[in-house]
Amino acid sequence: MTTDTASALLARWREDTPGCRERVHLNNAGAALMPRPVLETLTRHLEREALIGGYEAADEADARVRESYARIGRLIGAAAGNVAIVENATVAFAQALSAFDFRPGDRIVTTRTDYPSNQLMYLSLARRAGVETVRADDLPEGGVDPESVRRLARHPRTKLVAVTWVPTNSGLVQDASAVGEVCAGLGVPYLVDACQSVGQMATDVGTLRCDFLAGTARKFLRGPRGIGFLYVSDRMLERGAFPLYPDLRGADWTDPDAFRLADSARRFENWEFAYALVLGLGEAAGYALAVGQEGADRAGQLAAQLRERLQEIDGVRLLDRGRERCAIVTLAVAGRDAAELKLRLRERGINTSSADRTAAGVIDMDEKRATSVLRLSPHYYNTVEELDRTVAELRELIRS
Ligand SMILES: Cc1ncc(COP(=O)(O)O)c(C=O)c1O
Repeated sequence: MTTDTASALLARWREDTPGCRERVHLNNAGAALMPRPVLETLTRHLEREALIGGYEAADEADARVRESYARIGRLIGAAAGNVAIVENATVAFAQALSAFDFRPGDRIVTTRTDYPSNQLMYLSLARRAGVETVRADDLPEGGVDPESVRRLARHPRTKLVAVTWVPTNSGLVQDASAVGEVCAGLGVPYLVDACQSVGQMATDVGTLRCDFLAGTARKFLRGPRGIGFLYVSDRMLERGAFPLYPDLRGADWTDPDAFRLADSARRFENWEFAYALVLGLGEAAGYALAVGQEGADRAGQLAAQLRERLQEIDGVRLLDRGRERCAIVTLAVAGRDAAELKLRLRERGINTSSADRTAAGVIDMDEKRATSVLRLSPHYYNTVEELDRTVAELRELIRS
């Protein structure tokens, strides 16, 4: 791409993003700024709900709701019928987990950096159902070792392998496709948490060879808060997988003691739907498809530049690990609490996020001997000038 084309693209992306004028937004791993078409889709539907009624507005939007499924499907390489829309990535993940009939002694193989809420669910399954959580070893440079997954997943009681593709911190990108190959080879079901990946990197469920994939709208995908989705493979649907607590959107109560599941991934959905958010998610998926690989490349490049600049600041310790790194940059500052730094930066018009040990993941944080972490996550609509300003402000804050 020529420099002129790249600048024109950047100008268009920023023009589409009203929030760019207000703040330096480096919290895309928290919630990215919505582009104007997403915002308009949301508000238009809410207006229709207020004017003609919520159920009536949903009927009126039926074709666009169906198109939303198709767009999410295109974004992840799936058919619309394999997509369930749910409240968020955590709900998507829980719905998928609940499809397994775990018995005492069954095993879930996972990683050391899986998202804390997922780790809590594994531990809850241990307490309630006697399920064992086994964590695969990391490679020396960070990131799960697929061969360790293979060794553990061979165990006859392994019911599931679950991997967070891009952990919430650490800039790490797990080799989710290599793990998928291992699972396919062993015939073990595979659940991927793609919450931080969708919208940040090319996502294809065929390449990942996963059975379930959980995602959310508000992060790098740039959709609204409070909505997410779950991909369910044909293999799982044909096997009759369904959530522990289906509701009348996903199943029909056909006889006093019988129910029939929906044919599609809809069986993982709940009846009450935030239609404005569903449409907003569909619009965001369409926007991400239009932006394409250029966006992913640029976000990664900005993060790499940010790391270079940050490591020159006295007292800053970069915490990112792994062979492949993404648009999540994490750091600790000697003697400083990340939450306080985040607030000071916010006062200066710069959005970042922070996490303490429990929110960031106890295994990862203890290994790094960090108590709190500051996270800066650029997206393709950020500029190099914004990075420079952030680094300068942080340097001054640390000095003061
Ligand atoms: C890797 C990862 N998985 C899952 C989640 C949870 O997503 P949600 O809040 O949409 O449930 C997050 C949120 O930060 C995350 O970073």
